[in-house]
Amino acid sequence: MPKPKWLEDAVFYEIYPQSFYDSNGDGIGDIEGIIRKLDYVRDLGCNGIWLNPCFDSPFKDAGYDVRDYKKVAPRYGTNEDLCRLFSEAHKKGIRVILDLVPGHTSEEHEWFIESKKPENNEFSNRYIWTDSWFKRPQGLAFVGGEAERDGAYILNFFKCQPALNYGFLNAKEKWQLPPNHPDCVATREALMDVMRFWLQRGADGFRVDMADSLVKNDDVHKSGTSSVWKTVRAMLDEEFPEAFLVSEWSSPDLSLKAGFHADFLLDHENSGYKSLVRNYKIDWQRRKVVNDVSFFKKDGMHDVTKFLSQYLPWYEKTKNDGYISFITGNHDTPRISLSLDPHELSLAYSVLLTMPGVPFIYYGDEIGMAYIDIPTKEGGYTRTGSRTPMQWSYSALNAGFSTAPPDKLYLPVDTRPNAPSVAAQQAEDSSLLNTVKTLLRLRHTESDLQAIPNFELVNSKDFFDRTARVPFIYKRGKFICAVNPHTRRTTSIISIIGTEKLIPKYKKVFAIGNGTLINGECSMEPQSFGMWKIE
Ligand code: GLC
Ligand code: CA
Repeated sequence: MPKPKWLEDAVFYEIYPQSFYDSNGDGIGDIEGIIRKLDYVRDLGCNGIWLNPCFDSPFKDAGYDVRDYKKVAPRYGTNEDLCRLFSEAHKKGIRVILDLVPGHTSEEHEWFIESKKPENNEFSNRYIWTDSWFKRPQGLAFVGGEAERDGAYILNFFKCQPALNYGFLNAKEKWQLPPNHPDCVATREALMDVMRFWLQRGADGFRVDMADSLVKNDDVHKSGTSSVWKTVRAMLDEEFPEAFLVSEWSSPDLSLKAGFHADFLLDHENSGYKSLVRNYKIDWQRRKVVNDVSFFKKDGMHDVTKFLSQYLPWYEKTKNDGYISFITGNHDTPRISLSLDPHELSLAYSVLLTMPGVPFIYYGDEIGMAYIDIPTKEGGYTRTGSRTPMQWSYSALNAGFSTAPPDKLYLPVDTRPNAPSVAAQQAEDSSLLNTVKTLLRLRHTESDLQAIPNFELVNSKDFFDRTARVPFIYKRGKFICAVNPHTRRTTSIISIIGTEKLIPKYKKVFAIGNGTLINGECSMEPQSFGMWKIE
């Protein structure tokens, strides 16, 4: 399937609008604030923005409970402001994708208000209702007793988020409609109508929330939900061939076959991605990380095969279909810095940003912003600590985020004495921020380091028999990358898979710490990363 060419060189920056930059001093970030910081995003090396939901909402789940898909939430600005963000971003070579929540709306959405009515109407089947208040849907979360309508309705996530009706695979009960029922088709059409609305106004695509959750009682292959996305993709290919669709799904083998251009690797239990940077438990009582065995941790397990055994089969299976998106984190995960110190972060970013696919940086991760222990806000719970205001400069009030009195801020700013900031890190050559910039500059100038599927593992076989499986060495076209997160020096013979014979001449183009690559032997000093170009 054709995919937008621009994705090959795309690097995204996720912006949580509440917390990026407050332009009018009311204590909450806004769209005008993002417009004012576009140069920052561009100079960092990101040419794409994923904006978390910015639509009208009662904010019981920070905007993932949409009340009106076609209206910007007044606290962020107006539809005109959002359209201006699109055009200003485009002038700077930045694309903007919005957050599409297809599986549920807010309980205050007008479709749901209609759907709750006892009289049959256009929206009666827009949500999933049982046919009697007495009937409880098996295995699905539901609410009963809230509507005049006789029935219980299904939830998708929180209580405030009734599930939209895309039908049931192998429907068993009368109230379970098949996905091709006209009312389920109407839901799908309504979704595409929302997409067209924003794409026509200049949006460049969507990050799709809970993308796997549409058709209920779906099979293991998610064939019901996948067929909805195939319809959506066909519409995009036809009407908006440059639009980008990336899924919150974390099963590229399913999502990329269903028509997504990219899928995030998330920190799900047993996920290969988790084993790299989030392989720990959190003791929520003490708010402490315990048993941290993440690959990039200097005292972790140093076992990259956990990651590879999940990633490689997915990569091989899907490399012609779409991209796997590595993230530094997102608004749902603990900040990556909760476990990794700044040096470990620089090693982790060196790998995450030199892998194939379309990478995403969560705002503030480029300076190593901390996970803060604060009370919940708008349904965030333990996620709230990853959503605090961007730290621009500590010589300004509220770290430069807002001119509002500190007690009026949407969320508090990190006030620890050594908290990182953009201003401080811009001034320091070896800062995390400058490391990220250097890596992204390299990525943009060398097509071999971009999204294209040219990944080869070049560790020799004996690597898999070791207990400490480091250094991890991979090749991307003309580049060899090696990382050793361990506190000990490690060496490995590299073997090039395929027919190509290596001319043993390598030029080092980027390094953290020291490493050598001589005659097919790679030797890495403790906690180092190296990238060589084959000449
Ligand atoms: C996704 C979002 C999360 C939200 C949930 C319900 O997981 O990333 O923030 O709470 O979906 O929409
Ligand atoms: Ca504001």
